[in-house]
Amino acid sequence: EVFADSGDASVAVAHEIANLIRAKAYQRQKCVLGLATGSSPIRVYDELVRLHREEGLSFANVVTFNLDEYYPMERTSTRSYWYFMHEHLFNHVDIDPQNIHLPDGLVPLQSVYQHCMDYEEEINRHGGLDFQLLGIGRTGHVGFNEPGSNSRSLTRLITLDHLTRVDAAPDFQGLNNVPTRAITMGIDTIRKARRVVLVAWGHKKASIVQEAVEGEKTSVLPASFLQEHDNLTVLLDREACSEL
Ligand code: GLP
Repeated sequence: EVFADSGDASVAVAHEIANLIRAKAYQRQKCVLGLATGSSPIRVYDELVRLHREEGLSFANVVTFNLDEYYPMERTSTRSYWYFMHEHLFNHVDIDPQNIHLPDGLVPLQSVYQHCMDYEEEINRHGGLDFQLLGIGRTGHVGFNEPGSNSRSLTRLITLDHLTRVDAAPDFQGLNNVPTRAITMGIDTIRKARRVVLVAWGHKKASIVQEAVEGEKTSVLPASFLQEHDNLTVLLDREACSEL
């Protein structure tokens, strides 16, 4: 779906999420959301906060699982995805803190595998993801599933691509400060979500969007595996769709 403006597209995504939260609340069910960081989803979160403040949208029945976290990374660091999510969404809505899940960027190395398996199990214990929001990185990653990630990958520790680290460098005041690793949900974790919405804005994303949407399915470009999903929408602005 192509929108003239990324702001309008973000509002459309937020309204879909809000409708899902309300429908689940009406059925007295939890709404399990997979959430993303990066600049692309920020206005989706802005609109959700507005809906909470102005239209009484409640997050009391919402359970969230974020895609990823840098490793190592302290929650309290302003560069952590934990901080990002609280800053942009969680601090401004009535979500129960116990319902918020992000990979732990400080889990000791020898416990990372168990932590990742526990993360998968916790998602399953909640009945799986009702909705997964995604951005896309210029390497073709979703979450931090860098090139080489296979379609059956689950939550795990991954080494970040050089380009991903270059793109993150401004947030870290320089490439040398960007962590070399991250914990990310896998492609299979993401694919199992019952609904997936990927958003991409701007010229910078045009070529990777074209390859992900129209190219072959390959672990060289992990986002391409989403082509197999039967309930996926890719929302783009005019610039991001310019090479389709
Ligand atoms: C990071 C995140 C991804 C995100 C990507 C794109 O790498 N781990 O989930 O999609 O950045 O970021 P942006 O939306 O800022 O372009």
